[in-house]
Amino acid sequence: MPDDEESRYGEAWHEVYDTWHPVDGRVVSAVAALRKLADGGRILELGVGTGRLAIPLSRGGVQIHGIEASARMLSVLRSKAGGENIPVTVGNMRDVPADGRFAVVFVAASTLFCLLTQEDQVRCFENVSRHLEDDGHFVVECFVPGREHPAEGSRVVPWVLTGAECRLHIAEGDPVTQRIRSSTLSVAQKGAVRIVPVELRYAWPAELDLMARLASLQLRWRWSNWDRAPFTAVSGQHVSVYRKAGTG
Ligand SMILES: C[S@@+](CC[C@H](N)C(=O)[O-])C[C@H]1O[C@@H](n2cnc3c(N)ncnc32)[C@H](O)[C@@H]1O
Repeated sequence: MPDDEESRYGEAWHEVYDTWHPVDGRVVSAVAALRKLADGGRILELGVGTGRLAIPLSRGGVQIHGIEASARMLSVLRSKAGGENIPVTVGNMRDVPADGRFAVVFVAASTLFCLLTQEDQVRCFENVSRHLEDDGHFVVECFVPGREHPAEGSRVVPWVLTGAECRLHIAEGDPVTQRIRSSTLSVAQKGAVRIVPVELRYAWPAELDLMARLASLQLRWRWSNWDRAPFTAVSGQHVSVYRKAGTG
């Protein structure tokens, strides 16, 4: 079993990812927003995972390419209808190992924070910038550190509380390293107990904007969700859209 940093997420999450992140209205909104931004052009997804977004994009006629570090997540993608033929490069999204340029590059579901150092996150922005068409967009969906994802201290947040399952998100943030170590603990009535860990390096939106500037990108829009709702002081997540500096 590989224990390199970039495939750790998939080792822990591949069996539960699709059950715990079902296709819902947010997926429909994300797909619509990304299609509109791409305007018929090619899309690249960093950390494509099990294809939650890539499969519906591909079904809608979008030319989508993925980058994925985990063989486990990739095998789930390949087992799904519509996931067999999506082109995927196995590698580290820090390096953006893909050919050519894209109308849209995106990284959803706080996947950028799987890169555990500021240096790797900056490298990712720089490499994305090289793969964008001149009028292309880089779209980043991330949580804002806070209630569920504490910048410091520990927090327990219920995720699912039904008669059949109690699922808790237990997280601890370290403001020195900007890392959050968390475990999702699921106890099901049928007796199954699961603990699924993840470690992330968080950044506030302002730090991401600076990383973008280092990569010659500038913020064009920031929404609190894929439906373009305004981003406010209480938003728990953001969808930020960057484009090359100097393009208007
Ligand atoms: C939170 S999941 C998101 C999956 C998919 N993008 C979605 O929205 O459903 C993060 C994905 O990124 C992959 N990943 C984590 N670190 C990576 C890295 N350094 N390079 C490439 N993929 C990575 C994981 O294996 C996992 O498939």
